[in-house]
Amino acid sequence: MIRANVEIVRIAVLASGTGSILESMFGAGLRIEVVLIDRPCRAREVAAAHDTPVVLVERSSYGSDFDRVAYTHAVVDALEPFDVDLVVMAGFGTILEKPMHDAYENRILNTHPALLPAFPGWHSVRDALDYGVKVTGCTVHVATLAVDSGPILAQEAVPVLPGDTEESLHERIKTVERRLYIDTIKEIIERGHVL
Ligand code: GRF
Repeated sequence: MIRANVEIVRIAVLASGTGSILESMFGAGLRIEVVLIDRPCRAREVAAAHDTPVVLVERSSYGSDFDRVAYTHAVVDALEPFDVDLVVMAGFGTILEKPMHDAYENRILNTHPALLPAFPGWHSVRDALDYGVKVTGCTVHVATLAVDSGPILAQEAVPVLPGDTEESLHERIKTVERRLYIDTIKEIIERGHVL
């Protein structure tokens, strides 16, 4: 088996939000070649603070007229010059279509703030809270065309505490994601599963 190390595997991070997971990735020594965002967001500042190129492929629409396939092609084209080995989604808010999975088959990872297959989708923290579960968590998985359904690489449970709000629970989950996602990425790189 070919083994690789974290210094040589070239990573693209896709983000749409505060970029706190992205921030911990920079701290962990991963080789981030580019940060791609779909809207103006704090992840842009995080990347700039680490002298890393940021590419904004802005969504033209959030309505039913959104051309998801054309958008996906634009993302694939924008990433192409960076020649990345691995694509890591860290709070990316746009579901990408088949061209992305054709270009990076089995090389796209995601972290989801719930214990999949429970609570898929964009509002998983709120859904878990509304359901009244006492334990939720996070899932690191391979992203496939079927959303939130790819092979699971790692999971960790997080308790729901009395008085939790969506924000407080999500922050407790993200504290775990910032460790579990990075450990999992490093592990698959070191096992040679990327190159
Ligand atoms: C994480 O909880 C991730 O699982 C979800 O979005 C959040 C990203 O957080 N998809 P941040 O923007 O890195 O702080």
